Amino acid sequence: MRSIRKRWTICTISILLIVYKTKEIARTEEHQETQLVGDDELCSNRPLVNNSNKIIRKGGSSIFQHSVEGWKINSSLVLEIRKNILRFLDAERDISVVKSSFKPGDVLHYVLDRRRTLNVSQELHSLLPEVSPMKNRRFKTCAVVGNSGILLDSGCGKEIDSHDFVIRCNLAPVVEFAADVGTKSDFITMNPSVVQRAFGGFRNESDREKFVHRLSMLNDSVLWIPAFMVKGGEKHVEWVNALILKNKLKVRTAYPSLRLIHAVRGYWLTNKVPIKRPSTGLLMYTLATRFCDEIHLYGFWPFPKDLKGKEVKYHYYDNLKYRYFSNTSPHRMPLEFRTLDGLHNRRALKLTTGKCIKQ
Ligand SMILES: *[C@@H]1O[C@H](CO)[C@@H](O)[C@H](O)[C@H]1NC(C)=O
Ligand SMILES: *[C@@H]1O[C@H](CO)[C@@H](O)[C@H](O)[C@H]1NC(C)=O
Ligand SMILES: *[C@@H]1O[C@H](CO)[C@@H](O)[C@H](O)[C@H]1NC(C)=O
Ligand SMILES: *[C@@H]1O[C@H](CO)[C@@H](O)[C@H](O)[C@H]1NC(C)=O
Ligand SMILES: *[C@@H]1O[C@H](CO)[C@@H](O)[C@H](O)[C@H]1NC(C)=O
Repeated sequence: MRSIRKRWTICTISILLIVYKTKEIARTEEHQETQLVGDDELCSNRPLVNNSNKIIRKGGSSIFQHSVEGWKINSSLVLEIRKNILRFLDAERDISVVKSSFKPGDVLHYVLDRRRTLNVSQELHSLLPEVSPMKNRRFKTCAVVGNSGILLDSGCGKEIDSHDFVIRCNLAPVVEFAADVGTKSDFITMNPSVVQRAFGGFRNESDREKFVHRLSMLNDSVLWIPAFMVKGGEKHVEWVNALILKNKLKVRTAYPSLRLIHAVRGYWLTNKVPIKRPSTGLLMYTLATRFCDEIHLYGFWPFPKDLKGKEVKYHYYDNLKYRYFSNTSPHRMPLEFRTLDGLHNRRALKLTTGKCIKQ
């Protein structure tokens, strides 16, 4: 009898502790949320952009002048980085939830907005992969292609397409820009907001047709939709899912795990890179370290001007301007970019920001 009572006491204390801890976590995340970019623009480097003029004026060119000539990978460093990242996440698993992760009708909390929830619909569930789309996949060289206007006039298309695996961002158009960006897309991300931004919110049939055509061009590539990050895009995700099913598109959908963002952030924090929230570009590099022996980055340039002072579009394919967010968020150095630039100099990856030279 006494031992039962003791157990109950321990149990109650643990529950209280758990409740306390949960509250604490909720509070921390609430706090973070106010600092995070408010919409689901995972692709954005915007919070970093405002500083760039200053940085480039103050000798940024010497900071970011990295040479691609004679660049050679340091394979032992690549292995070391892969091993360290694997302590925080396993990209094979965290790159997507799978069918057995949920049942239709399950209620999830949004990763970056824990107070709000999402119901797992029958359609969403039917599009979850049975196994990770990246299970057992390994490549000699991979390209991660960001969307910066720095790609325009780069002539990098052929070089990008020559990689064994090409990762792209936010369903960026390629055909009209093939000479500079290439067309091969083995893996492409899509923020739910792109439905609104680039496909008219599917208001009429031609918007939907354009979207279905874009997806059909992907054949059986992986389409990676961060659907569980913040509330606001669930209608878009449902419409996309419905179109994929209705048109029997071959594209292989993937939805990042609920822990991915925090795990990636954890890795970089541990390596003294205090990011608030990784951009899609950094997420993709981090994930790619699992699958690729050699990673080449293109289209990463979070500044409104290039080193010669020429204007650079935010996206190579549209006229989106920088939308600056709250002034209360502290301005910072373009940390992610500096980090990647540093990794380039240590030969852990290759960062191309200039023209591609014909081999
Ligand atoms: C490659 O990286 C390893 C591990 O960081 C380092 O010890 C080695 O000196 C590097 N080699 C070259 C040629 O830079
Ligand atoms: C989610 O499911 C719950 C329980 O089935 C229901 O009460 C709620 O209205 C649903 N929410 C949405 C947004 O569909
Ligand atoms: C459909 O909507 C787009 C804008 O989203 C517009 O440009 C286009 O003209 C519309 N097409 C038709 C057939 O109404
Ligand atoms: C899909 O297949 C078509 C026809 O074979 C090809 O032209 C296109 O480049 C492929 N798309 C991708 C992303 O590989
Ligand atoms: C951007 O930077 C300029 C000067 O560095 C500053 O005056 C301006 O308030 C900043 N804008 C935002 C939206 O942070």
